[in-house]
Amino acid sequence: MKKIMLDEDEIPKSWYNILPDLPEPLPPPLHPATKEPVKPEDLEPIFPKSLIEQEMSNERWIKIPEDVREIYRIYRPTPLVRAERLEKVLKTPARIYFKYEGTSPPGSHKPNTAIAQAYYNAREGVERLTTETGAGQWGSALCFATRLFDMACTVYMVRISYMQKPYRRVMMETWGGEVVPSPSDRTEVGRKILAENPNNPGSLGIAISEAIEDAVKNENTKYSLGSVLNHVLLHQTVIGLETKAQLENAGEKPDVLIGCVGGGSNFAGLAYPFVKDAENGDLEIIAVEPTACPTLTAGEYRYDYGDTAGLTPLLKMYTLGHDFIPPPIHAGGLRYHGDAPTLCMLVKHGIIKARAVNQLPTFEAGLLFARTEGLIPAPETNHAIRAAIDEAIKARESNEEKVIVFGFSGHGLLDLQAYDDFLTGKLADT
Ligand SMILES: Cc1ncc(COP(=O)(O)O)c(C=O)c1O
Repeated sequence: MKKIMLDEDEIPKSWYNILPDLPEPLPPPLHPATKEPVKPEDLEPIFPKSLIEQEMSNERWIKIPEDVREIYRIYRPTPLVRAERLEKVLKTPARIYFKYEGTSPPGSHKPNTAIAQAYYNAREGVERLTTETGAGQWGSALCFATRLFDMACTVYMVRISYMQKPYRRVMMETWGGEVVPSPSDRTEVGRKILAENPNNPGSLGIAISEAIEDAVKNENTKYSLGSVLNHVLLHQTVIGLETKAQLENAGEKPDVLIGCVGGGSNFAGLAYPFVKDAENGDLEIIAVEPTACPTLTAGEYRYDYGDTAGLTPLLKMYTLGHDFIPPPIHAGGLRYHGDAPTLCMLVKHGIIKARAVNQLPTFEAGLLFARTEGLIPAPETNHAIRAAIDEAIKARESNEEKVIVFGFSGHGLLDLQAYDDFLTGKLADT
């Protein structure tokens, strides 16, 4: 079968929380001022109580509210697709499957958590959410989700992306969001940075600082993060839970599971429901990141801030340093200095393997995928495809009938400038 589908009533009823199943307790987040473990009330100026509870919960299964499942039905369950035409071109005995998250209205996995976060905020009376966005995928997901709950949304968009990606901005505005290029003169952090350099191109770290400041200083306003935190990864597990059911229906057992990593949310969403299998040695799980921002493969495992200004709690994670500004590769969503603490711990324990790939080979992989399977992937997704192709070639060389599953985190229909740069030879490896 080409596409393995599930019925709408098979959308998962609970999210899977990996916290109780980690190999050791997760080091607590530390308060940025006192450096003491963060208490739930410390987070209340930026997050609603229900999400703080989820962030710290040790319950293995957390019920998905019916209102959230109802909205998931717009694009879930997403298909698990067999990439037969790609297999043929690669002459591999491996069977390659991808979980296609590009069916959502903004075109990526991001609404899986945006919808949940908008729901919990709306239920607690929050009227406006602030956030940051790099390439625009997360910002558009939150504008889409807040619209469905009649909330306002302010998105601080990294200035260079704001200029390079006008269509993502238009998408956010179409759903009623307000988009501000960052650094901006709306916040103290932004004004300080602009005073030092009026042409600062911005970074995710700066945009996070601005969005948090806006939320803290304004009534009925909270902040929303699109990756890294436990509750975000929790919401994304609908990806892996569906994939598990789909593989079972197809009579397949995965040997290799692959995803790209920016902050870790689509990867964790796909992989965490399978982590027990990796611990039993039945499955290899590979996290793929860009060599331009090699957090898991070259970062240090230590406490660091999540943003540039040091407003967020300190998280124990692999980090390149909170002031690290990665080269401007096209996979904007993978340009983050840190990664989700749970993912970092699983990498540290060797349960999940990490691999870094260069920009050019990722686009070569994306092009081959588009020319065999038809779908044009996001530059971030191309990282997962590169690794999947490399694993399929390895299987050809060892003549093994492996089952390779990768996360197709989003389509690239608003990233065509990147493909143009690649096709006209303007893209470098950085
Ligand atoms: C299509 C796509 N894939 C992957 C990512 C990386 O984020 P995460 O690691 O949180 O999944 C992003 C982030 O913007 C994205 O837009």
